[in-house]
Amino acid sequence: MEQIEQIEKQALAELDAAGTADAIDAIRVCYLGRKGVLTSVMRNISQLPKEDRPVAGKKANQVKGILEAALNKALQRLETGAQTIEDRLDVSLPGRANRTGSLHPVSQISQQMCDIFSRLGFDVAEGPEIESDYYNFEALNFPKNHPARDMQDTFFVSDDIVLRTHTSPMQIRIMEKTQPPVRVVVPGKVFRCDSDLTHTPMFHQVEGLFVDQGVSFGDLKGILTAFVHQMFDDKTSLRFRPSFFPFTEPSAEVDILCVMCRGKGCRVCSHTGWIEVLGSGMVHPALYENVNYDPEKYTGFAFGMGVERIAMLKFGIDDIRKFFENDIRFLNQF
Ligand code: PHE
Repeated sequence: MEQIEQIEKQALAELDAAGTADAIDAIRVCYLGRKGVLTSVMRNISQLPKEDRPVAGKKANQVKGILEAALNKALQRLETGAQTIEDRLDVSLPGRANRTGSLHPVSQISQQMCDIFSRLGFDVAEGPEIESDYYNFEALNFPKNHPARDMQDTFFVSDDIVLRTHTSPMQIRIMEKTQPPVRVVVPGKVFRCDSDLTHTPMFHQVEGLFVDQGVSFGDLKGILTAFVHQMFDDKTSLRFRPSFFPFTEPSAEVDILCVMCRGKGCRVCSHTGWIEVLGSGMVHPALYENVNYDPEKYTGFAFGMGVERIAMLKFGIDDIRKFFENDIRFLNQF
């Protein structure tokens, strides 16, 4: 009995160490082969005293079964290259949590801006980031020698293909396709050859366009005031300053009361108490001619604002470049 147990122990230990099919086969031959160790023992059982034979025979058969199973399992393990689940499973290890992502702060603000305009009755549309000179400039009434066409500001893909420098080309694309009333906002990426604390070569704008019969500058002021009050709060007043854009007439730049110092003057507002947030104006009649709208019948307004600028004010961030460094410690805070 002891001899059989000894054989079992030894065979299993050798199997544990066997790393190739050949080694496993050698073990099979050595123990279970015609001249194998276990086989010989079994053959010798007939020489034991009669009363000992059944117990010894039973034990030897048992061990034979165990070894055969172990040999098969060892071969299997070798084939799949995998350990059994019991071998791999360590229930004492800590669990692996699912790491959920979140929207980039610029996306969050852009969506929030579009949500506000949606509730004011605007649709949301998107357009191409690579634009023709026609949509980016020509149809928007930019004279051929306008400084905004200068190589310094515009990334040219070819002579008349550019990376759009603003979302305003969508004004034309939308009016070409739809008849008034038009009420739409357009979020998206824009590109300008510029880089410092407050400028990145790529940034985001939300464009707005509202055209119908009898739309006035008062409507422009009303919509933008409602927007600023919802984006910031009721006490954030607006200031409309006369300005110039080729595609609006009259044009106005809009400042809001500095959200940091509430008008007292601080570093963020360069001690003026006001912060510029957008450009706007009444759609220039020349644009209506380009899209076959009747300029005698329709009037409208348009506006365009920088998303990063609004996000910086909302979150109190002083360097626009932080948005695009993808530092997870920064992004995790939103
Ligand atoms: N497109 C202008 C800019 O990027 C902003 C603007 C949009 C001005 C619509 C007036 C009307 O500066």
